Parts: sequence; structure tokens; C-alpha cells
Amino acid sequence: MRLFMFLGERVIGSVSFTNVSRGALQGCWLGYSLDGREQGNGYMTEALRAAIPHVFQALKLHRIMAGYMPRNRRSARVLRRLGFRVEGRARQYLLIAGRWEDHVLTSLVNPGVAARARRSSSPPRARRARGGVNG
Ligand SMILES: CC(C)(COP(=O)(O)OP(=O)(O)OC[C@H]1O[C@@H](n2cnc3c(N)ncnc32)[C@H](O)[C@@H]1OP(=O)(O)O)[C@@H](O)C(=O)NCCC(=O)NCCS
Repeated sequence: MRLFMFLGERVIGSVSFTNVSRGALQGCWLGYSLDGREQGNGYMTEALRAAIPHVFQALKLHRIMAGYMPRNRRSARVLRRLGFRVEGRARQYLLIAGRWEDHVLTSLVNPGVAARARRSSSPPRARRARGGVNG
């Protein structure tokens, strides 16, 4: 799914959720880019705050994964601001401009899915205690 960001009638950026994998993973990869002239205005964070709830609630995916080059501090800040957690570092991960570049791997897990899974796996006694008189 590729989404485009508009400033007036001008396209200034895009956000893509790719490699959607259902089955046991229920995950996808996030990529994004913004017109150089529009960086540093908060636009990408705003775009992702609008797009991510759609991926979690409408598409019902469980995990969004995103990677960035260690020197891309601005991209790191975008992801951290949105709650993505660093999970590791992949060596020589992507071929970018003719060089194999290391990437920091991050992900964001759907808080709704995790909460539902916890509820359905709690023992009956715990469910009763939380559920009050009818539980
Ligand atoms: C990474 C990238 C998407 C970030 O876009 P962005 O719109 O600048 O990111 P944000 O939405 O998080 O903007 C936050 C910045 O805007 C500033 N800002 C200014 N006005 C703001 C406002 N009203 N609200 C929020 N932030 C504001 C913030 O201080 C922050 O600055 P900082 O990054 O220096 O800390 C962009 O730099 C880009 O496209 N880079 C090239 C491609 C790329 O790296 N893609 C990602 C590959 S992993």
C-alpha cells in the first residue's frame, strides 16, 4: 500500500507498507521519503500518525518493521517518536547507491492485537476477577 502526502496540490512525499505477510507473521515493512525542501517541519511524523492506525485497525496487521542506516539520525528520530523499538542491526543489509549498507532494524507492534491475545490467554480465574460480578 503506497500513500502520497499532499501540500496543497503538490505531492511532497510518500509512505509505503510493503511485503505484507499474513499467516503467522501478520507483518509488513514500512518505507517513507519526503521532498528535501519540506524536511524538518514535522510532516512525516504527522503522515505516519495518520497511516499507522489504518494498518493496525483496518488491515489488522500485528507488526510494522522499519530499517534505517545508522547515520540517518532524522529517520531514527521519526521512528522513535512513533514508538518503534530497535531490535538489532543487520550488516550489509541493502544495496544503496552501489554500497551494501548496514541497517538498524526496528518494529512497532499493534497494541490492540497484543491486548486481545493477553485477554484470550488469561486463565478463567483471572478473567473472572477482572470481569466483576458477571465475569
Ligand atoms: C527521514 C524523513 C522522512 C524525516 O521527515 P521529517 O518530516 O523531517 O520528519 P518529522 O516529521 O519527524 O519532522 C520532525 C522535525 O521537524 C521539526 N518540526 C518543525 N516544525 C514542527 C512542527 N510543527 N511539528 C513537529 N515537528 C516540527 C522537528 O523539530 C523535527 O526536527 P528534527 O528531525 O531535526 O528533530 C526525511 O528527512 C526524508 O525523507 N529523508 C530522506 C529519505 C529517508 O531518509 N527515508 C527514510 C529511509 S529509512
